[in-house]
Amino acid sequence: MCGIVGHLGKFNALDAVLNGLEHLEYRGYDSAGIAYAVENQIFISKEKGRVSELKKIIKASSSTLAIGHTRWATHGEVNRVNAHPHSSQCERFVLVHNGIIENYQRLKQIYLENYIFKSQTDTEVIVNLIAFFSQDLSVEEAIRKTMSLLEGSYACLILDTQQADKIFFIKDKSPLLLGISSLGVSFASDITGLIGFAEEFMPLEDKTFGIATTDSLEIYDIIGLKKETKFKKISVKMEDIDKRAYDHFMLKEIHEQPMMIRKIIDHYFTKEEVRIPERLLHTIRQSDKINFVACGSSMYASYFAKYFFEKLCSIPSEVFCASELVYSTPFITKRPFFIFFSQSGETADCIAVMKKFKKQGYPILTITNTIESSMVRLSDYALELCAGKEIAVASTKAYTAMIVVSAILARAVHHAKTNLKNNLKAVSLAMERVLENKEVCMRIAKELVLDRDAFFIGRGIDYWTALEASLKLKEIAYIHTEAYSSGELKHGPIALITKGTPVIAIITQEGTNRVTRSNLTETASRGARTYVIASKSLAIPEDDVIIPNVAHYLSGIISAMVCQLIAYYAAVYRGNDVDKPKNLAKSVTVE
Ligand code: AGP
Ligand code: GLU
Repeated sequence: MCGIVGHLGKFNALDAVLNGLEHLEYRGYDSAGIAYAVENQIFISKEKGRVSELKKIIKASSSTLAIGHTRWATHGEVNRVNAHPHSSQCERFVLVHNGIIENYQRLKQIYLENYIFKSQTDTEVIVNLIAFFSQDLSVEEAIRKTMSLLEGSYACLILDTQQADKIFFIKDKSPLLLGISSLGVSFASDITGLIGFAEEFMPLEDKTFGIATTDSLEIYDIIGLKKETKFKKISVKMEDIDKRAYDHFMLKEIHEQPMMIRKIIDHYFTKEEVRIPERLLHTIRQSDKINFVACGSSMYASYFAKYFFEKLCSIPSEVFCASELVYSTPFITKRPFFIFFSQSGETADCIAVMKKFKKQGYPILTITNTIESSMVRLSDYALELCAGKEIAVASTKAYTAMIVVSAILARAVHHAKTNLKNNLKAVSLAMERVLENKEVCMRIAKELVLDRDAFFIGRGIDYWTALEASLKLKEIAYIHTEAYSSGELKHGPIALITKGTPVIAIITQEGTNRVTRSNLTETASRGARTYVIASKSLAIPEDDVIIPNVAHYLSGIISAMVCQLIAYYAAVYRGNDVDKPKNLAKSVTVE
């Protein structure tokens, strides 16, 4: 969600920031802006829409210092005035901000009554508070004083027109990385914004304040104590964020799944043994309940994890939606264990829950694709998904990786000598077969192009896949879809079935094959246009997509991939921006 980039050094910072903003585009945004220094003067350009629009209005060709922003509007409509950077009323300070200032109205009333605000944003309060306090304090003190008043989340880069060779930075809750190279200093909300310029990086901690110039870097905590810097090499490469020959990142990421599964196997297995720290396994074994916490696709993947832990390890488990759990107080057992799933590791709803339960001393594991993330830093344990960078907003490979890694973890907790490794290899091969035969998914997608509504149905494992399939079709094809446990249809939703309503049934489980088919026939009798995605051993010749057989508990991975392809092609045929669907963000960093 939104992004910040800043560069300062012996290179063209203007180009570097524009480049970085393009790398951060995948996070989701609605406007973009930049502030840059030329001969000690600061210039600002901002525009509604894409970074490509911003590029068109920039007059200069180079600069040694620049800060940039992609905005995902929270306060104030999407327009040029509300886009960042924002400057103080006196025009001395210029700032870009990711996050939300929750008490901005109150701060306005208390300190800034006589100020005229140009935008509707919460952000403009920050820059004016700095200006207000700098009348009596040094700039450093004014920024620190401002920080002490802000409630909410922020990552900000700040420029002072009276010392245009410096970038000031502050951070609390919203992510901000600091990068360095022999040529200068860089900032970005995630690693992709640093690639190509910084060689090493470190994530900044909450309540950090700092100042960077071309040759110096100072980082302080909120009370002014100097902080140590600890940099790590950047391992993500330019080719990791390149679409290569694919039309979209989403298609590339769907295709990467068979190889990804082999990588996960290599990462977690030594011959037949699973490589997961014993301390973690022991803690899970000691627990009396596992609480899975996640959002969106990651939450849907958690249903599989719950199933594995209950079936294999006999540990009662429950799936919680993070945004609900923040504000509710469920019954907590005596020895709970918390497992968070998150592709980005930066989801604000998850972080809020994590902080709540961490305070109570409960053990927490994060399973994520982003090992350098806020959620990992807050957790006691972390496991990596090994899916490789996921750029498309719609999650595909991270979702299936979550199912795979949780199966491996459950097996390790259980100590079982199962056939999981071979079963996973079979899944990888089966996924290749699905990709070779994707024309059938394209055909279904074409038939869905003019539909306004659609239903996915299934039971058990197939119902969880239906939930994910429905989310995929909604978020990128903008088709209103509902996922129902097929038995629930007759308890209400069947009233919505009219002539031609598409109903897609997922059938991979022997025990529910017959009954799901009956439920599908009930919709056909009321005019529905029905489709069946079925495992080979359960399929009949009339079924639309027949997928290879794999171990029944892993079959959701294959049927989910079929649904990813259907959603992808439906979005393409509808002419949508597949990788950057409207209103959505890749990392949802606000609650
Ligand atoms: C997936 O396609 C969605 N864009 C979204 O539901 C996502 O899974 C959710 O926001 C959770 O994100 P996370 O995995 O990064 O925590
Ligand atoms: N709350 C600020 C705004 O609405 C910042 C949003 C963002 O993080 O992009 O402008």
